[in-house]
Amino acid sequence: MSEELLSGKSARLQQYIEKLATFIDQEKPGWTRRPFTKEYQHARKWLREQMEELGLTTHVDASSNLIGRWEGKKPDLAPIVLGSHIDTVTGGGRFDGIAGVVGALEVVRVLQTSGKRLDHTLEVIDFTAEEPSEYGISTIGSRGLVNNLTTNMLERKGPDGETLSEGIRQAGGLPEHISEEARQIGEVSIYLEMHIEQGPVLEQMDETVGIVTGIVGIHRYRVNVIGQPDHAGTTPMNKRCDALTAASELNLALEAICQEEWEKGVVGTVGRLNVKPNASNVIPGEINLDIDVRSLAIETLEGVMTKLKGKAAAISSSRGVDIKFDCLSQSTPIEVDDKILTLIEKASQQAVHTHRIPSGAGHDANQMANISPIAMFFIPSKDGKSHCPEEWTDYEDVARGVDCMVQSLFQIDSSLSPSSVN
Ligand code: HGY
Ligand code: MN
Ligand code: MN
Repeated sequence: MSEELLSGKSARLQQYIEKLATFIDQEKPGWTRRPFTKEYQHARKWLREQMEELGLTTHVDASSNLIGRWEGKKPDLAPIVLGSHIDTVTGGGRFDGIAGVVGALEVVRVLQTSGKRLDHTLEVIDFTAEEPSEYGISTIGSRGLVNNLTTNMLERKGPDGETLSEGIRQAGGLPEHISEEARQIGEVSIYLEMHIEQGPVLEQMDETVGIVTGIVGIHRYRVNVIGQPDHAGTTPMNKRCDALTAASELNLALEAICQEEWEKGVVGTVGRLNVKPNASNVIPGEINLDIDVRSLAIETLEGVMTKLKGKAAAISSSRGVDIKFDCLSQSTPIEVDDKILTLIEKASQQAVHTHRIPSGAGHDANQMANISPIAMFFIPSKDGKSHCPEEWTDYEDVARGVDCMVQSLFQIDSSLSPSSVN
């Protein structure tokens, strides 16, 4: 891409990303913007204004996603959707999801400046709560859009006792209309998402954009371990029913199982845990921990969970604790259609080097794949870091990702017809 083109885009992208980085929870580390918070709503309001300044018609759908539309020349064609998310993990960075939403707006701007209106209508979607929310559910907005939010999920309660359904309503959605409004297969021509790699591969290459070949499926469980609270000083070691040591044994078992299965490409993490009553002189009586297991192969995912539940049964009987697994969510591993990979690779190679790469992170694309073909573009992450304040991507790399999306859209718009892609 020519330098001035790159610098023009990257300057604007920098401005947008830095502005979004001001809508954060100042009490939290990094650039924290959790969904269903006031800072999230402020960011949403600002984003909607930018969409409207670009001439997009905007609305908030039943699942509370923010959607901007730029009509195409042939309104009877199902729209092409560009999307990602502007919510972050606690202590997160400035680029995860955000680069994709801001990049999508820049794609629209570049198309408008080029004077080339596409045949397909373009929709830019900021999906609500892609990250695991306080309700325990992630990819909430994209699940809702494809009618993959179960009643059990909608009834899950947040820390203040309100349900996810109430949270969606407060964010501008209409939970009772989610099902009827959901998109069906064929109602989106293709979904494209640009995202930071969140890993160390692309950074080693020169001016390279990743063409994502597949995305892991994620199985998330909330595990409840019930022991017996007791006095830390007077309870002999052989008379304890310690929920935390039992949970620790379970966590180490998860690590061991995933290390054994590592060659099959699986990772397992306990990133969230709370202790009750959480007092230094009381033997922990109850533990709640969240388990996150990921793989590109569904049978590997299921195999790890079967082994772990077997280990949990053994821990339960040896330690006298009760262990319950409550499934929070399961997303399916995605393989990107090879014809799409080749199409966007060829289009992108007019501007940059490309490299095929799988995604170890989950994305809204996992949900969108339920109703349409999907494709993702990865841009490099400095030192491979993400989900931390050090998360960084050079603005020129964001601009290169925009350019790949623009070149790919021209190809897709002209060649895409429902029969030619599936
Ligand atoms: O957890 C993930 O993979 C994504 O960053 N939400
Ligand atoms: Mn993330
Ligand atoms: Mn993300």
